[in-house]
Amino acid sequence: MKLYINENEKKGYIHPEIYGHFSEHLGRCIYEGMYVGEDSDIPNVNGMRTDVVEALKEIQIPVLRWPGGCFADEYHWKDGIGPKETRKKMVNTHWGGVTEDNSFGTHEFFELCRQLGCKTYVCGNVGSGTVQEMSEWVEYMTLDGVSPMADLRKKNGQEKPWKLDYFGVGNENWGCGGNMTPEYYGELYRRYQTYVRTYDREHPIFKVCGGADSVDYNWTEKVLRKCFESPAPKAAHGFMDGLSVHYYVGSEKGEHKGSATDFDEEVFYSSLTRALGMEEVIEKHGAIMDQFDPEKKIGMIVDEWGCWHDVEPGTNPGFLFQQNTMRDALVAGVTLNIFNRHCDRVRMACIAQIVNVLQSVILTEGPRMVLTPTYHVFHMYRYHQGAELVQSSLQGTRLVGTGADQVTDVHQSVSVDGQGRLTVTLANVALKEAKDMEILLAERRPEHPEAVLLTGAVTAHNTFDEPDVVKEQTFDQFEVTERGLKFILPPCSVMTIRM
Ligand code: AHR
Repeated sequence: MKLYINENEKKGYIHPEIYGHFSEHLGRCIYEGMYVGEDSDIPNVNGMRTDVVEALKEIQIPVLRWPGGCFADEYHWKDGIGPKETRKKMVNTHWGGVTEDNSFGTHEFFELCRQLGCKTYVCGNVGSGTVQEMSEWVEYMTLDGVSPMADLRKKNGQEKPWKLDYFGVGNENWGCGGNMTPEYYGELYRRYQTYVRTYDREHPIFKVCGGADSVDYNWTEKVLRKCFESPAPKAAHGFMDGLSVHYYVGSEKGEHKGSATDFDEEVFYSSLTRALGMEEVIEKHGAIMDQFDPEKKIGMIVDEWGCWHDVEPGTNPGFLFQQNTMRDALVAGVTLNIFNRHCDRVRMACIAQIVNVLQSVILTEGPRMVLTPTYHVFHMYRYHQGAELVQSSLQGTRLVGTGADQVTDVHQSVSVDGQGRLTVTLANVALKEAKDMEILLAERRPEHPEAVLLTGAVTAHNTFDEPDVVKEQTFDQFEVTERGLKFILPPCSVMTIRM
């Protein structure tokens, strides 16, 4: 198989935020997964566990979305500020019926993002909140000066406003966020976003309009129509900077999604068929966006994506705690390649969810922590962040799979960074066949090639007792040719090559 790369043909900027993450007040994502409190025996800085923060810094997490998810449209931010002992204790009705003590709130979120060195993406409450509540939250977070909310923030120990990069106006408002019709949400979006004020002109808040569930193209069309109709905004991008879409692998199968670790080839290829469907989802929602926004000013924000399997046996079904295998790594590998190749429209993507929930990059158990195969893919792909996509195409791919689920075997994306270094990321989803690969550059002779490989049995995964079953390995079995490289890409693998 040949991979042709035209390193001179730039195709667009890969926003680092494509490698973003999502954190919700759900199960052990925030509590225990990232926040253990200042008094915990688990080493922490201001309550954030050090092991997790350090591991996340290694993958250069660019942006973190919070507080939900479905939780966002039930969250009343004032419950999560002020002295912790006086914060309201309540039931997390959506996720597991456990006590939410609000000890992680706005101040803690910004502290976590400070430690991670990442951008901030807060999702507001449209479903059960008021315009005033949303508007006051933005004022609390971002207004420098004298105002009731700025004064309250100062009283709570934060003198200066924070930098709020992204703000979502509701979440899944077609479902858990209020069961709205697109027309109704479109009306509400126009109204709510009006009061998401940018107080700091140097740092305008990027407003995200709540988008569709996977292939619900009707939602996208109707919401955009509503947001572009008269009286239309002068700046003319439908009152929004971004429009979201959510797409999961597994949830389409109904209640019984299947085990995270115990599955056969047939299930594997059906997962991959679904994962590769992301391309069509982006293209079809993108085509509708093009009708309203041909200059692609509005970013597509895939702020929830990933595998959704059955919870681990014996765990709270409302906690969505699942293991993570080479299947998940391949889903991540092909999906991130798709995002890169559509970087002209995809502005941000957040995998669901960062720790201990759905397709996590990290799992924790008390003081222990394990990195998942998906973590390694994010680590291997980090060089694409902020790089330029370059033209690439594969010749000689084949279909692999079972029954109706036939998928292309190898998937790629290629970028060049500011120093002129190329990054090639490949995913071979064939479970049995290794691939004879030849990379051919347009002009350059490859210099200093380096590669990292992630491979293993498709059900291989890391546990607290065996944390290194799936891990990155240095790969140097290639032959350097006049214009490229030759090597064998193992089955069921993800590879990064830098040159
Ligand atoms: O990520 C879990 C849930 O999936 C989120 O809360 C919701 O937005 C989606 O349905």
